[in-house]
Amino acid sequence: MPRRWWGIFIDIMYNIDDLKNTASQEAQGIDNPQALEAFRLKYLGKKGVVAEIFAALGSAAPAEKGAIGKCANDLRVFVTSLIDEKGKGVVISSKAAAEAIDISLPGVAPLRGTSHILTQTVDEILDIFKGLGFVVADTPEIETEFHNFTGLNIPLNHPSRDGFDTFYLDAPDKSEPGKKLLLRSHTSPGQVRIMKAYKPPMAVIVPGRVYRPDAVDASHSFMFHQIEGLLVDDNVNFAHLKGLLTEFCKRFFGAKVEMRFRPHFFPFTEPSAEVDIGAEALGIKNKKWLEILGCGLVNPNVFKAAGYPDGRYSGIAFGMGVERMAMLRHGISDIRLFYENDVRFLKQF
Ligand code: DAH
Repeated sequence: MPRRWWGIFIDIMYNIDDLKNTASQEAQGIDNPQALEAFRLKYLGKKGVVAEIFAALGSAAPAEKGAIGKCANDLRVFVTSLIDEKGKGVVISSKAAAEAIDISLPGVAPLRGTSHILTQTVDEILDIFKGLGFVVADTPEIETEFHNFTGLNIPLNHPSRDGFDTFYLDAPDKSEPGKKLLLRSHTSPGQVRIMKAYKPPMAVIVPGRVYRPDAVDASHSFMFHQIEGLLVDDNVNFAHLKGLLTEFCKRFFGAKVEMRFRPHFFPFTEPSAEVDIGAEALGIKNKKWLEILGCGLVNPNVFKAAGYPDGRYSGIAFGMGVERMAMLRHGISDIRLFYENDVRFLKQF
């Protein structure tokens, strides 16, 4: 072993200048961080040339140790200065290079959620009515037959009371023996509840889910959303209803929206109407008018059910489907898209 180290020592003593020359020639050819790193390892690495010379120290004759150490140190300083020069003062280790952050690359933006398009639509509609002086109320999704039908002047033999048109729950209605609770089929029972709980004047808006055992297709779902409106005061008339809903439609669909009030029948309003808006302004070609809501003057029988004195008050009421409003507004053709929660659909809004 000593011989070998001596061999290296002698070689070094005679070739330190050669080593430096070779190193500076090699350094000249370096043009990328990988090559610079390879160069660094060759001379300064754990098994590099400098380390090998230092290793020779252990077995060198005491008299030679100083000279060998000086040679190794010389070479180390020389190579380090070459690397510094090449790497502009930075010795790039391969690990550091792999972990290095390129601050010029665009960052990975975190996905930001938004509220669901139905929530946005509800919020927008509520905001419009809040701006017109209405307050928002929440009434139950599990209802009694009284609030969902009877109190709204819907006769006992009306088809909507049938089990095929309303979800009845296997739960007794404690307020009416023999009756069962149900999932509200519209938000109109909110009218009866609000009138029972508060005294006029009032202007209330009730958003929420409603349920009907409909077969699901592009325009039907067993659950959807409605928004109910109710305004009760002295001397409220149909002109108030027209003015209110015209203002609403302009704010929701745009000032150029065309509207018409078409006579219709609802048990809980008299007279009643349906409101249509012009299809053209929404870019819908195959139809002239699109139905958007039902409305009317509160039927005196509904006031009676709420316990109001006969003939004392007058009111207007209206109800609209949220999905339908969103579909018309955004050109959505299938109601099922709202509930599938496919991000490709949701992130468009
Ligand atoms: N409840 C009705 C429905 O679900 C909509 C409706 C029509 C509500 C007329 C009203 C109204 O308040 O006055 O079809």
